[in-house]
This record gives sequence, structure tokens and C-alpha cells, in this order.
Amino acid sequence: MSTPFNTKCMLYLTSVLILSCMKFVLATNFYRDFDILWGNGRGNILNNGKVLMLSLDESSGSGIQSKRAYMFSRIDMQIKLISGNSAGTVTTFYVASEGDKRDEIDIEFLGNLTGDPYTVHTNIYTKGKGDREQQFRLWFDPTTSFHTYTITWNPFMIAIYVDGTPIRVFKNMESSGVPYINELPMKVYASLWNADQWATRGGAIKTNWTEAPFITWFRNFKARGCVWMNGESTCNSGSSKSINQDWYKQKELDLSRNEMLKLVQHKHMVYNYCNDFNRFPLGLPQECH
Ligand SMILES: *[C@@H]1O[C@H](CO)[C@@H](O)[C@H](O)[C@H]1NC(C)=O
Ligand SMILES: *[C@@H]1O[C@H](CO)[C@@H](O)[C@H](O)[C@H]1NC(C)=O
Repeated sequence: MSTPFNTKCMLYLTSVLILSCMKFVLATNFYRDFDILWGNGRGNILNNGKVLMLSLDESSGSGIQSKRAYMFSRIDMQIKLISGNSAGTVTTFYVASEGDKRDEIDIEFLGNLTGDPYTVHTNIYTKGKGDREQQFRLWFDPTTSFHTYTITWNPFMIAIYVDGTPIRVFKNMESSGVPYINELPMKVYASLWNADQWATRGGAIKTNWTEAPFITWFRNFKARGCVWMNGESTCNSGSSKSINQDWYKQKELDLSRNEMLKLVQHKHMVYNYCNDFNRFPLGLPQECH
């Protein structure tokens, strides 16, 4: 007899909980979370902090830097790329530390002529060592709507996701002598700039400035991670709730995500440094084995 009421009540409570969690998670505010780093007015925060636009013209591009630095985090950003002719332009979304032993996890979108596909260029630097490029084609048009690009790094692995699908994983292989990202905090960056020296078909296609300004849109930034405070990570001091979250505890992809990763790499990867034997005549980097 009391079941219907209880079920309703439960449903109601559950939806209230979900809504309040969503409100908490979705409260993006670019004013609060970022500084406009460069671009002299070409980077603009709009809509009460909910939306960021970066623009590029013949004199300059623009870029932002997060106010906080993180040591282990999950970072999500929704991005809508330049439509039409974006050849020569590069939109970036990445996390990086400072100094010469720099750590960095990069996602760069290399523009193209109208109708030709963007290239998603990724790289991972650990303690100053990069040269780990992998490139992909997207399975959708990234210019007609927003899509979610995610970077996670925890003590065990680094991963890059597109709309929840993993495209790249880099495991902690410190025990085999491969440096890992676990000492320096990283800030979040996004930028839009001209790279027509190399970006589109190796630099053969130049940016067409009659079509400027070029604009990339960003929204729903979320950092679910451990903030760096007073010289240490809140993950280490135990004062962060993040250490109980899935992204932090994850040691490897689950089976279904691992299948997705394999499929994406099989169907959509267009360059992998681990297959580039000409580039590494003395042998592929350790982590490729
Ligand atoms: C642009 O499109 C051409 C033709 O499909 C392709 O060869 C190239 O890799 C694409 N991307 C870039 C960044 O040049
Ligand atoms: C540059 O864009 C303009 C306007 O769309 C177009 O008329 C012109 O042909 C383009 N130039 C080149 C070199 O493609």
C-alpha cells in the first residue's frame, strides 16, 4: 500500500539530489576560474561568466590561464570550433606546469579548409620530455555544436576523452624508467592562434585573413580535482573529496572503455609516434613497448 508513495518520494528525493549536484557541477564561471592571459581584448568572457570566446585576426590570437593549479584532476571543457575555412588556425586546450622540467597534456585542433576535417593533435610531456604525438580525426563535425573534451590525470594514468570516449591513455610506467606527471601542479590553458607555418597540410595552406576574425567558443569548464595550496596538493594532504572519486581511483580503463579506445585508435588515429620507426632509428620510446 505504501509502496507507490515511497517510490514517488524516493524519485522526488533522487531528482532533487541529482539537480542540486548538477547545479554544483555546472556552475561554470570563467571570470572566477580564469585570467585572460593575452590577446589584447580578443579573448572575451560573456553571459555572466558562462561562455568564453577566443578570437584571432591578422595581428594576434588570444588565450586564457586558470587561476588555480591542480595536482591530479579531471578537467572538462566544451568547445565549438571555427566553422568554414579554419586553415592555418590552431585552437588549444591543455594543462601544463611551469619551468624546464615541464609537464603538459595537450589537445590541439588544427584547422582546415571548408569541408576538410580538423586534425586533433595530442602530446604528453613528462618532466620535460615530449615527442609523444598522436593525431586523430573526429567522428563528427566539431564546428556545428559544442562537444566535451576531457583530460584526466591521477597517480596511475593519464587519459584524454572526446564526448566520454577515450582516445588516448598513458600509464604511469615510472617503474620502467618512464617519467610521469606527479610532482608539479598544472594550470589549465586554452588559446587560439595562427600556426599557418605548419598546421594545415604541413604549412602548405595559409590562413585566409579576409575571413578573420576567427572565433572559438568555450563553455561548461569543470575541474574536479585537487587544488595546489601552500606548496602541496589537497589530494596528498587528504583534505580533498576528490580522492574518493572514480577519476582519481581509476588504475586502468574498464573493459568497455578499453574496447572503445581500441576502436577509436583503429578507426580514427592518423598518426602515432609509437609506430614511427623512421623517427626513432635507435628504437621506439620505452612506453611504446
Ligand atoms: C586537412 O584536410 C586534408 C584533406 O583531407 C588532410 O590531408 C589533412 O590532414 C587535414 N588536416 C590538416 C590539419 O591539414
Ligand atoms: C579568401 O576568402 C575570400 C572570402 O571568402 C575568398 O573570396 C578568397 O578567394 C579566399 N582566398 C584564397 C586564397 O583562398
